Amino acid sequence: MTEKLIIKGGKSLQGIIKLRGAKNFVTKAMVAAILGDSASTLYNVPYIKDVETVSRLLELHGCSVEYKKAEGVLQINPANVLSPKIADIDILVGSSRIPILFCGPLLHKLGEAFIPNLGGCKIGDRPIDYHLESLRLFGAIIEKAKNGVKITAPDGLKGTKINLPYPSVGATEQVLLTACISDGVTQLSNAAVEPEIIDLINVLQKMGAIISVSTDRVITIEGVKNLRGFRHTSLPDRAEAASWANAALSTGGKVFVEGANQQDMTTFLNVFRKIGGEFDITDSGICFYHPGGELNSIPIETNVHPGFLTDWMQPLVVCLTQANGLSIIHETVYENRFGFTDALNKMGAKIQLYRECLGSVPCRFRQMNYKHSAAIFGSTHLKGADIEVPDLRAGFSYLIAALAAEGESRVSGVEIIERGYESFFDKLLALGADIELLQ
Ligand code: EPU
Repeated sequence: MTEKLIIKGGKSLQGIIKLRGAKNFVTKAMVAAILGDSASTLYNVPYIKDVETVSRLLELHGCSVEYKKAEGVLQINPANVLSPKIADIDILVGSSRIPILFCGPLLHKLGEAFIPNLGGCKIGDRPIDYHLESLRLFGAIIEKAKNGVKITAPDGLKGTKINLPYPSVGATEQVLLTACISDGVTQLSNAAVEPEIIDLINVLQKMGAIISVSTDRVITIEGVKNLRGFRHTSLPDRAEAASWANAALSTGGKVFVEGANQQDMTTFLNVFRKIGGEFDITDSGICFYHPGGELNSIPIETNVHPGFLTDWMQPLVVCLTQANGLSIIHETVYENRFGFTDALNKMGAKIQLYRECLGSVPCRFRQMNYKHSAAIFGSTHLKGADIEVPDLRAGFSYLIAALAAEGESRVSGVEIIERGYESFFDKLLALGADIELLQ
């Protein structure tokens, strides 16, 4: 059943919200726990659907999982890892891309893995060719089946040299999770180095792995015989922090995001300041606010870290509808992440999409049939509308648009937002939003 939120716009958000661990790290650290020969404990774990999904997946694979939601503490014991029934995992994967990362750990523990067709946000084709090619280089045998991919490693997995065609986050994690206890040395070139990946490396090092990262996107992993469990506190969720920052700015408000970390958000903070937002950084978090005056338009290109994170883009678009002049966004990570702008146009925004690369980053979508650049003409007066959430970040951007708009909006499908935003409804209420949830 889809949940619908009624939002009466026009109130500025004011107050404090607490940020917990990063969705895009926590779910991977949970998979890393399978590699240990003792239990692991993860702290600062947010209560979101993706954590629930990966917990269920781990249980189906024989791990015991105990989650204390209020404390944010998750314990995983991988003592009895087993192959689950394919039909059972199929039920879960509609909403997640994490199963692909089970490959390496399962190949090491069981000699085989079955990866169902994957879910996740519909923001592009999201193929898994880099994952499969990397696993082949480790010595795995890949067989395509009707409902997924069967992978075996009859001769074990051996360290190898891998050069990714693009610094994919998931493929880098795949290689890390596979290489740590493969035989010999693995050298990964053109790796992604997002903060969430560096924190995964922290976890693997605590488990006994030997991994070095050089400044040229090369990661070297020296295989060890076995790994132990870990105790680790997740880094904060920089995508969620930026979402609340945009919500504060678009509604002319002030939100203290407790737990937000400057270090992982430098690129976002620069952009936020350039468009006219302000922030105060303390040891316990970042206070984002609208200092008064007009907002400014800006050209932005999304990119791999340390560039502007693609997950920051969708909520920022709403702020840019409120900025004076022409903003340009060139999305270079996903080919199809602008579909959500139709609903914003329906609310009064003026956003036009282009197939051309409106920027200077060498982009894989050049001269292809993807509308991956956007021109946003501002400022525009947004009006409430009936809109439906298409994916996670677009969903949060619709909430922002509805909060900034004049009149009432009905936002349906908001359960998608629960995949990655802990207690967003309660947080909105605490910040003074005029909202009501219909089920
Ligand atoms: N790609 C391929 N082949 C592959 C793998 C990736 O062509 O085998 C392409 C993708 O299609 C995409 C690009 O490479 O165009 C980047 O994909 P990447 O592998 O880096 O992304 P991901 O691992 O699937 C994670 C996050 C995303 C985030 C990206 C980029 C998780 C669960 N998801 O996805 O988060 O946008 O990295 O930083 O960690 C979100 O949180 O809303 C979200 C979509």
